[in-house]
Amino acid sequence: MPQKVSVGIVGASGYGGVQLVRLLLEHPHIDITFLGAHQNNGVRFDELYPQFGHRVSLVCEEPDPDTIAERCSLVFLGTPNGVAIGLAPALLKKGCQVLDLSADYRFSDLETYRRWYGGERTDHEVARTAVYGLPELYRERLRAARLVGCPGCYPTASLLAVAPLLKQGLIDPRSVIIDAKSGVSGAGRTLNVGSLFAEADGTVAAYKVARHRHTPEIEQICSELAGTPIHIQFTPHLVPMVRGMLVTLYAQLRDPGLVSEDLLTIFEAFYRQCPAVHILPSGVYPQTKWANGTNICYIGLEVDPRTERVVVLAAIDNLMKGQSAQAIQVMNITQGWPEMTGLPQMGFYP
Ligand SMILES: NC(=O)c1ccc[n+]([C@@H]2O[C@H](COP(=O)([O-])OP(=O)(O)OC[C@H]3O[C@@H](n4cnc5c(N)ncnc54)[C@H](OP(=O)(O)O)[C@@H]3O)[C@@H](O)[C@H]2O)c1
Repeated sequence: MPQKVSVGIVGASGYGGVQLVRLLLEHPHIDITFLGAHQNNGVRFDELYPQFGHRVSLVCEEPDPDTIAERCSLVFLGTPNGVAIGLAPALLKKGCQVLDLSADYRFSDLETYRRWYGGERTDHEVARTAVYGLPELYRERLRAARLVGCPGCYPTASLLAVAPLLKQGLIDPRSVIIDAKSGVSGAGRTLNVGSLFAEADGTVAAYKVARHRHTPEIEQICSELAGTPIHIQFTPHLVPMVRGMLVTLYAQLRDPGLVSEDLLTIFEAFYRQCPAVHILPSGVYPQTKWANGTNICYIGLEVDPRTERVVVLAAIDNLMKGQSAQAIQVMNITQGWPEMTGLPQMGFYP
């Protein structure tokens, strides 16, 4: 039996952290050896989440890089933006591999990060080594990565919906419009008024229109795919469900003669080697319920010959393919394991 890999989770008390704990407990090659938090330091994990009492006896600890490096060879940072900047450089120096779930290491240009997230960065050299953790586009680069900036949930669904179109030059890259809907867990476990049941239930509303922080992240990768800098129109909405995300993407086709079946064939070919992406048959559109609890992105599409636009729909679980499960998919790739090892591929239905 090969030795198991010792893994730490900083931010274990949060929504991303608790998914990681659950998934990694079931992973055949992993031992969880460190749980880190902030306000919950000193608290037993099963006090925070009693449903884990039969499986986890660890206590949440201060995320001190020396302690983590003594116990772990790989660390997930499921922390708010800005925290990884203070941890990743020291962890990498001590030999830990770092998979960061926040925005801190997603940007190739730190000036873009500074403009949208604020704060000064002194970790340019470290940030330069980071690989963007979207396996479907960067699998080869991820194999040897020591530092990974795992994508946001909106960028994951949006990029998987648009990548084949941009890469193959099938659309006018300046025409992309993304209308996205997220469940409330997208905001994390931290208390905020907008996530209260009385505020979020029974209503649907857009937020941060034309200024959501995931916009530059989507634009960075779209520009790379298109081979030219582009802006996209991105509008997120909060919907009254706990988890799940649906992206509806519109773009102008360059060749108005293309029909839905042509594009489905192109999407299927593009994602042939991608076990986490499932292209739906013609006329079938994805539902968030299908993706919940899984590491799968379901994609459906339709060409509207009247407007000469393509409409692509992508559904994921924001906490799974949009966050923690995808980070485990990345870990599997960096370790040379089959990339869906330990990751659910079927949800519960209904
Ligand atoms: N939620 C999503 O759908 C989603 C999707 C993709 C990416 N992300 C990103 O993933 C990261 C985690 O998101 P989440 O939703 O899991 O957040 P969350 O539920 O709010 O949890 C945040 C975690 O970080 C810990 N923490 C806070 N400040 C810290 C500090 N200074 N040092 C160490 N730990 C600290 C918290 O510990 P205490 O509770 O003990 O204070 C908690 O465990 C965020 O960067 C988020 O943007 C989230």
